[in-house]
Amino acid sequence: MMGHVHLIFLSAFLLVSVTSETFDAMEGEAFTIKCPRWSPSVKITWYHTVTNKMIPTEEEGSQIFSLNQFLWFLPTSREHSGDYTCVIHFSNNSTKLYNMSVQVHPYKQGVCFPSQIRYPNDTGRGKIVCPTIDNYKNATIIQWYKNCKPLQGERYFMAENYVYISNPGKEDDGYYTCRFTYIHKGNVFNVSATRIFISKVKHSPIRPQILVPKDKDVIEVELGAPLSLKCQARLGIKKQPLAVVTWDVDNISVKSLEFSRFHEKTRSFEGRHQEYYKETTLHISEIKNEDLQANFTCVVVNEMCNTRATVTLKLKAQCEDGKIYDAYVIYPKTHTNEDGFVEHFVYQVMPDILENKCGYKLCIYGRDIYPGEDTASAIEKRIQRSRRLIILLTHQLINCKEPAYDQHIALYNALIQNDTKVILLEMEKIGSYEKLQESLRFIIRQQGTIKWKEQRAVHPQPSNSKFWKHVRYHMPLILKSSYSTNAG
Ligand SMILES: *[C@@H]1O[C@H](CO)[C@@H](O)[C@H](O)[C@H]1NC(C)=O
Ligand SMILES: *[C@@H]1O[C@H](CO)[C@@H](O)[C@H](O)[C@H]1NC(C)=O
Ligand SMILES: *[C@@H]1O[C@H](CO)[C@@H](O)[C@H](O)[C@H]1NC(C)=O
Ligand SMILES: *[C@@H]1O[C@H](CO)[C@@H](O)[C@H](O)[C@H]1NC(C)=O
Ligand SMILES: *[C@@H]1O[C@H](CO)[C@@H](O)[C@H](O)[C@H]1NC(C)=O
Ligand SMILES: *[C@@H]1O[C@H](CO)[C@@H](O)[C@H](O)[C@H]1NC(C)=O
Ligand SMILES: *[C@@H]1O[C@H](CO)[C@@H](O)[C@H](O)[C@H]1NC(C)=O
Repeated sequence: MMGHVHLIFLSAFLLVSVTSETFDAMEGEAFTIKCPRWSPSVKITWYHTVTNKMIPTEEEGSQIFSLNQFLWFLPTSREHSGDYTCVIHFSNNSTKLYNMSVQVHPYKQGVCFPSQIRYPNDTGRGKIVCPTIDNYKNATIIQWYKNCKPLQGERYFMAENYVYISNPGKEDDGYYTCRFTYIHKGNVFNVSATRIFISKVKHSPIRPQILVPKDKDVIEVELGAPLSLKCQARLGIKKQPLAVVTWDVDNISVKSLEFSRFHEKTRSFEGRHQEYYKETTLHISEIKNEDLQANFTCVVVNEMCNTRATVTLKLKAQCEDGKIYDAYVIYPKTHTNEDGFVEHFVYQVMPDILENKCGYKLCIYGRDIYPGEDTASAIEKRIQRSRRLIILLTHQLINCKEPAYDQHIALYNALIQNDTKVILLEMEKIGSYEKLQESLRFIIRQQGTIKWKEQRAVHPQPSNSKFWKHVRYHMPLILKSSYSTNAG
């Protein structure tokens, strides 16, 4: 029985000896060590271990003194290196001893902390607490450093006793030093403390995977129509430092084909489980014959490797009516109308309602036909491939001596070839139609006009208003299937 107790005592004793800790400090800074156990009911005394001399409480001019649980060095000097013992006196007169070792390191030019002066690593999501600062009353952090360089930038949020890194990644791993000042009886002391930060949520690349398109996909297109090709790839966990998703046309980067029919738009996002995706959409303003022979390759690169998917285009079998647009829009193009309302209507209001809300596709000069294109033939092709003709009737359009080219062609198509239906939008009160071209008067006699109400510019009419209902009544049915299936 006694032997057993003795063994426990021995092992407890060994454990204490082994865990005797070393504390590293910078020369000339404030420093304090803490006796490991403390409660208000115990009394603590500090000793120089070797000489067994008690260390008194603070006196005038003392650099080293005890204060309850703490042993203070204000400031440290090299002679303070050595062993210290704190003795805990319990109320039942028993005592407990802890040995501690202090090592004071001289300041070296160009080294912001000796490698020994490190507090426990911080492995976390971005909050790095300044080590030991809570031992110093009213301490003020002057500066944070990472690998000895001052921390600055919007990603760092400095609080009273910690710094917070938003969205930390591998690149944030390193040595973080906080430097703060401590004022004791009017004397200012520096303190610095360093710890390693290892971000918990590291980005890790995965073998990049192209979700769309599938390699060797053949995409059906219509000549003259615009096309958007989306390439979406999964690149890893968390935001990747290297993440390229881009399109090549016949092995030439779209980026180098500036001012061409090709434009790229890229966005990235995180999905479930912090999976990092990036997608780049290649916008082609108008499909030309040469595109049918080209290879469109999506190239994806991350830290691990690269991968690609190539698609080609083929003509859509001409089922349905071979039209691309639901309506071609004719409006007065000279900018003389005083409040710019017609432009606003054509470029904003009408696309918003007919395209975004109703799903029609419009052809608008200046938007879908660019100045500089071979205008005459472009206009003619577009009109031929539109199911409807929308004409905005304004005084300006009526008073124009020579009808605009597209108006001329369009009415020819509509009336002579009886190919395209016309929708007349009376945007301003016309009154008498006397001055109108005979062809327009003919159409008005047949079907009338749809009249835009007056309070227009300020409050665009909602899509369910009478006006738009009326317009939609004259628009073609939306043949969704003709866009997605190959019924030919
Ligand atoms: C503390 O150190 C002294 C001197 O090395 C040693 O005699 C003593 O046993 C140690 N005490 C403890 C609790 O480790
Ligand atoms: C502790 O020691 C003091 C002084 O030696 C004595 O007066 C007191 O009775 C002791 N207390 C206990 C709980 O042994
Ligand atoms: C702290 O991080 C450093 C660098 O990654 C590592 O070498 C060391 O083992 C870590 N220490 C602990 C106690 O985890
Ligand atoms: C700490 O700061 C507060 C406010 O600045 C001051 O009122 C207080 O006296 C300071 N305490 C010490 C111990 O310096
Ligand atoms: C504290 O550090 C600053 C900046 O390194 C220095 O200018 C200043 O003299 C130091 N103060 C003391 C009391 O050592
Ligand atoms: C397109 O890719 C195919 C298959 O890799 C290749 O045989 C062909 O030469 C490529 N065409 C062009 C124009 O690069
Ligand atoms: C483009 O690259 C592919 C694969 O590297 C190759 O097969 C093809 O011949 C290249 N085409 C041109 C036009 O260089």
